[in-house]
Amino acid sequence: MNGEILSELILGKTISESIYTELKERISSLKSKGTTPGLAVVLVGTDPASEVYVRMKGKKCEELGMHSVTITLPENTTQEELLKKVGELNNDKSIHGFLVQLPLPSQIDEKTVINAIDPKKDVDCFHPTNVGKMLIGEPEFLPATPAGVQQMLVRSGVDTKGKHVVVVGRSNIVGKPMAAMMMQKGNGADSTVTVVHSRTKDLPGMTRQADILIVAMGKPNFVTADMVKDGAVVIDVGTNKVDDPASPKGSRLVGDVDFEKVKEKASAISPVPGGVGPMTISMLMANTVAAAERAAR
Ligand code: GUN
Repeated sequence: MNGEILSELILGKTISESIYTELKERISSLKSKGTTPGLAVVLVGTDPASEVYVRMKGKKCEELGMHSVTITLPENTTQEELLKKVGELNNDKSIHGFLVQLPLPSQIDEKTVINAIDPKKDVDCFHPTNVGKMLIGEPEFLPATPAGVQQMLVRSGVDTKGKHVVVVGRSNIVGKPMAAMMMQKGNGADSTVTVVHSRTKDLPGMTRQADILIVAMGKPNFVTADMVKDGAVVIDVGTNKVDDPASPKGSRLVGDVDFEKVKEKASAISPVPGGVGPMTISMLMANTVAAAERAAR
């Protein structure tokens, strides 16, 4: 439609590198005062995707000079055994933050486990206390993926104040906290927020009103060009594995947005891969460093 619009790429991969540079300074300052930030990750079972994420988190800790502990428990671990491990980590002074990788095997109740984590060490920001604190604008931590999206907007110079942010998807991990964060007062927020989801009437009519469209629906090519206003900023949180016979792996990663078409309309857009994905781990590391700074005070 509008040949004038040349879209800019918002690259989480590049932005996360500058976040790591800043974190390294804070980590060396902490170390010079005798505190090494420590992150523990608990993995129950052998879900291949979870194994990849857990390995990436441990590797990044080591690159940054942080203390890293990975605890792998067998698939048949009982809830009681996992809660005992959570209790040990709550009391471990060398661990400033930890998380239990989800999903968990069916014999374990996720909510019970999340509720058992000391909110001061809950670097995922999944504990109801921390979700509540974030909602009232007094965050202990920010959840990693929405915080990553917010940093992408801030560090790309996207003005959010008074802008209409439409969040597509209402998950507890992305959509709900994302909406809560963008409606707060302050830099990188101050937005007017609409949340749309699978039950929304005229969803395309709503997304077309977005100045900033944040998509976390979990469906490949869910957002097509006709659903986007000319000049909108589009952030794609989707990570969908789709079959691709042309790829050596037989599959490839795509977002929730029809990137090739939507980029012709957007003023700025994040790709998949290389967009939101790399930001999530950097925000987890930032939360761990912040927890260590608070513990060292
Ligand atoms: N599984 C997929 N993403 C996440 C995450 O951010 N935290 C945890 N604990 N598990 C996950």
